[in-house]
Amino acid sequence: MKVVPGEVLENRRLSQDFFLLKIGGDFPPAEPGQFAMVSVSSSLEPFLGRPFGIAMQERDALIFLVKIVGRGTAMLSRRRRGEKISLVTPLGKGFSPIQGRALLAGGGSGIVPLVFLASRLSGYTLVYGARTRREVFLDAFPHLQERAREVVVVTEDGSLGKKGLLTRHIPPGEFHMAYVSGPWAMMREFHRVYPGKAEFSLETRMACGFGACFGCAVKVMREGRERMVRACVEGPVFKGEEIIWTQG
Ligand SMILES: Cc1cc2nc3c(=O)[nH]c(=O)nc-3n(C[C@H](O)[C@H](O)[C@H](O)COP(=O)(O)OP(=O)(O)OC[C@H]3O[C@@H](n4cnc5c(N)ncnc54)[C@H](O)[C@@H]3O)c2cc1C
Ligand code: FES
Repeated sequence: MKVVPGEVLENRRLSQDFFLLKIGGDFPPAEPGQFAMVSVSSSLEPFLGRPFGIAMQERDALIFLVKIVGRGTAMLSRRRRGEKISLVTPLGKGFSPIQGRALLAGGGSGIVPLVFLASRLSGYTLVYGARTRREVFLDAFPHLQERAREVVVVTEDGSLGKKGLLTRHIPPGEFHMAYVSGPWAMMREFHRVYPGKAEFSLETRMACGFGACFGCAVKVMREGRERMVRACVEGPVFKGEEIIWTQG
């Protein structure tokens, strides 16, 4: 973990709510599933950065895909090319990629950590859920389709692929490992179908991002008993069987 100065190389609106942010800098190598704390403005206000999964790492750049949900993400969406921006990266523990048949399932901005993971795998099945076709960003990350054996798109309004919620289109449990990221209810359903062979990236609220505030505590089962752990240090990726699914 390191505070690294960066510079906005690209800030491109992909839809009404989503933008792709490319930040240049000399960043330490990250692993799929890890995240960065990004300073959203050029002033000290707001003081706290915001956590975002690393969508891709290039030689001198990190790429993020961000959904505008509040003040911080709205400020970040207005950052311009050439502006200075600092990051704390990489943070947390990521996925454990395996050899064998993998299922990648991402809903909404939950696709982000899977974009990075997909760059390290091949022959996987990708299930990608979004509200509408305008929020399916396969074109922004061509390797997602190029490295896949199969891509299943599910949109809530039926404007692309299958219609409905992603949970209605979970492939049967024929994979060696499932990597899942998205809304809690969706992940809980995947855990039911893939008990003992799935990893989940949790999006808890985070303040510091490096273990100091306990604001991100989640309940897990470890060594036979319930424990509160910091998602920013021990996660954000957890094995399905250790997450206490009733807390969501
Ligand atoms: C490890 C991690 C990785 C993440 N990766 C991404 C990513 O790749 N792309 C992306 O768009 N977002 C990601 N998020 C969520 C992102 O951090 C929040 O959306 C952002 O911090 C909101 O900041 P804000 O100031 O705009 O919203 P606020 O004004 O703080 O809140 C606006 C609304 O968003 C909700 N919200 C705030 N933080 C979170 C959160 N962590 N999870 C769920 N809801 C939240 C609030 O409850 C509120 O309803 C990630 C979160 C974590 C913890
Ligand atoms: S966000 Fe502060 S301890 Fe995790």
